[in-house]
Amino acid sequence: MKHTKVIDVLKSDKLLQPITVKGWVRSFRNDRFIAINDGSTIKNIQCVLEDNTIDQHIIDRINIGAAIVVDGTLAESEGKGQRVEIKVTSIDIQGDADPEELKLTILSPKRHSLEKLREQAHLRVRTNTFGAIMRLRSKLSFAIHEYFQKNDFYYVHTPIITGSDAEGAGEAFKVTNFDLNNVPKDENGAIDYKQDFFGRETNLTVSGQLEGETYAMGLGQIYTFGPTFRAENSNTSRHLAEFWMVEPEIAFCDLDGNMDLAEDFIKYVIQYVLDNCQDDLEFLENRLVQEDKQKPQAERAEMLLRDKLKFVLENNFKRVSYTEAIEILKNSKPNKKKKFKYPINEWGADLQSEHERYLVEKHFKCPVILFDYPAKIKAFYMRLNEDEKTVRAMDILFPGIGEIVGGSQREERLDVLKEKMKALEIPEEELWWYLDTRKFGTCTHSGFGLGFERLVLFVTGMGNIRDVIPYPRTPLNAEF
Ligand code: 4AD
Ligand code: MG
Repeated sequence: MKHTKVIDVLKSDKLLQPITVKGWVRSFRNDRFIAINDGSTIKNIQCVLEDNTIDQHIIDRINIGAAIVVDGTLAESEGKGQRVEIKVTSIDIQGDADPEELKLTILSPKRHSLEKLREQAHLRVRTNTFGAIMRLRSKLSFAIHEYFQKNDFYYVHTPIITGSDAEGAGEAFKVTNFDLNNVPKDENGAIDYKQDFFGRETNLTVSGQLEGETYAMGLGQIYTFGPTFRAENSNTSRHLAEFWMVEPEIAFCDLDGNMDLAEDFIKYVIQYVLDNCQDDLEFLENRLVQEDKQKPQAERAEMLLRDKLKFVLENNFKRVSYTEAIEILKNSKPNKKKKFKYPINEWGADLQSEHERYLVEKHFKCPVILFDYPAKIKAFYMRLNEDEKTVRAMDILFPGIGEIVGGSQREERLDVLKEKMKALEIPEEELWWYLDTRKFGTCTHSGFGLGFERLVLFVTGMGNIRDVIPYPRTPLNAEF
């Protein structure tokens, strides 16, 4: 018989009818009540064993973690906390879970730290917390596609292996097929990439932007949504070596249009999860409330998770120029009291996450879009302003997260772009194809990149980026 997903069983009103569910045992009380979860929802279905219907040797195998198939009839629940339950007629154990061995895993029924759960990332999706996070992650991905598709953007698959380092930060992972014990050298003793698989130096992409721009010049408005890789040695709760990025790119759009799009897009996907993921959000919200009880008053969250999400929807992002932000930071209490690790003394300083968080969490107390950054601290492709000091860059800063989006209006003037590349020693030969877009029908255009895991962090209220991606890749860690 076809089985019914727990999410549908819980909504069903077909009382007294036969029903089959398949899932994993979450708990078994009094040799009578089995709670089963199948991943379709955070909620379990309660299955009740009537006296003498199930053989003792089967009952003995109903252990936490086991995969079981339950046949029974749907009944109104007599217990509290659920509307319906299943009166069991037969049970088939598909996969046993030995309780002694299970004790050594994170599936054992006691509280495990998030660090411990990370060590068993292959099992953690069977916990309520990670089930909720990963369902939200999936729904957010869908909402992202839905937003862009509804707004007539085309989804472009930019390459994962590429010859360019879009951000020019030198943080790309190399891709090679060389025998590393015997790397071919040319007559000058340098590595001879001509003999490598692609006949040239290649790396994993750090961003799909440059290729995305070429496609926006034909399709008008595009977006990418794929994995990106950065070999930056940042062991923080906000950085991954492999993360997913959403990158729209729009022809005939300036920085203001870019900011409008980013804000509208973020609000749409947050509204989507508020509308479609109530149970998981409620669970994560309560989890945070419990977690906060262990903390001193000053460190507790000011808002409940869903209120925080609604707050973002209901308020305009505050748009502030870099120059204004520097003034605010210079005169801020932590700067004057030398509380910042990197004190802000002058215009031109790169903003660290402590500064971004001060602006968002202490000063403005809402999402902030900073724009018109000094050219010196931003990438080569950003459009130079009339002042010749600043570029049309924007970063969106979120409470508890810091930078969630980075983007810009692009430098569309061939001569200015070439000048900039020369100054930064980026060889024209490497980006001849990128320069072609400026030769043939160049136009005002803009785009941004949203770090998907940072969005998932914000929406789930989790504190560490390693907990919002199934298998995090970070320095010295690529298990699974
Ligand atoms: O600011 P970034 O480096 O911008 C770009 O890559 C542009 N090419 C995007 C564009 O304009 N199309 O990265 C964009 C976003 C950041 O704001 C951050 O949210 C996220 O990507 N990000 C990371 N997320 C997790 N781990 C890392 N190591 C990240 N580096 C950047
Ligand atoms: Mg950035």
